[in-house]
Amino acid sequence: MVNTDELGEIKSVLPEWVEASRQLAEQGKVAAYIPELAKSPKDALGIYIMDTAGGSVSAGDCGLSFTMQSISKVFTLILALMDHGEAAVFSKVGMEPTGDNFNSMLKLELVEPSRPFNPLINAGAIAVTSLVGGDSSEERSLRILQFFRQLADNDSLDYDLDVYRSESETGHLNRSLAYYLKDKGILQDDVEAVLDIYFRHCAVKVTCSDLARMALVLALGGIDPSTGKSIIPRRYVQIAKVFMTTCGMYNASGEFAINVGLPAKSGVSGGILSIVPGRYGIGLVGPALNKKGNSVAGVNLLEKLSGEFGWSLF
Ligand code: DON
Repeated sequence: MVNTDELGEIKSVLPEWVEASRQLAEQGKVAAYIPELAKSPKDALGIYIMDTAGGSVSAGDCGLSFTMQSISKVFTLILALMDHGEAAVFSKVGMEPTGDNFNSMLKLELVEPSRPFNPLINAGAIAVTSLVGGDSSEERSLRILQFFRQLADNDSLDYDLDVYRSESETGHLNRSLAYYLKDKGILQDDVEAVLDIYFRHCAVKVTCSDLARMALVLALGGIDPSTGKSIIPRRYVQIAKVFMTTCGMYNASGEFAINVGLPAKSGVSGGILSIVPGRYGIGLVGPALNKKGNSVAGVNLLEKLSGEFGWSLF
């Protein structure tokens, strides 16, 4: 049975739990392969939880802005599905986890055709980005940004241009993945144009409350909580939730499913978007990452919340 005043209970314990989880940040490292991300505050930890009735609770460094990075991949996948449908999307990417790092090339050479294993690893996300509709790169980037704005209910969402430039100048590994996909016919468009769209959507700047609002739409099966109207077909939310569960925390997704048991997606900025289906949208940030690329303090905090409030879906 759902505890009706659970949000009140969360409110009373959250500040203390945030401070306890924050202690773990020292065990992690801020991502530095995108040079601009190395400036992120290592000890920061913030969380924002929105419920379906308009209630919310937050604690810690919720004022901190950070870039979506891989969290954006969930929503470009949804947009590509809305633009072209399942058959087109799954002709370019598979449905299986890799067990490898998010930027690995390894499995691309092991299968024929060289379809990336899933849409949340970098190779798969770049392939998916190439499917977002629009007449020009500018229009495709704008459509993605506007979709993110709609989901976050925040018209001022925009790029962190320093992070965008930093990744665009140093993203050699992503370039090599994309050129490989071009050679294999998975990417049809101009490679640099697709990469530019990809680097831009990874660099959309958000706060925890933006992520929580985006998550809430998924928690509601695609319903906009403000209007009550469907803005994402339920089937595509279902697909996104499956990938978040099986691949959202990269090759720590199994461990996360056991210890937290919620669909989630992390980014190298330290952001995590998670949902308690039908109940909450959660946005958090903690820039210090573990070896698998997930926020150390953030994962710890989600473990605590899910464990204490019995949120695991399994
Ligand atoms: O392409 C990259 O490497 C980054 N823009 C995003 C990677 C990322 O967030 C992986 N997350 N854990």
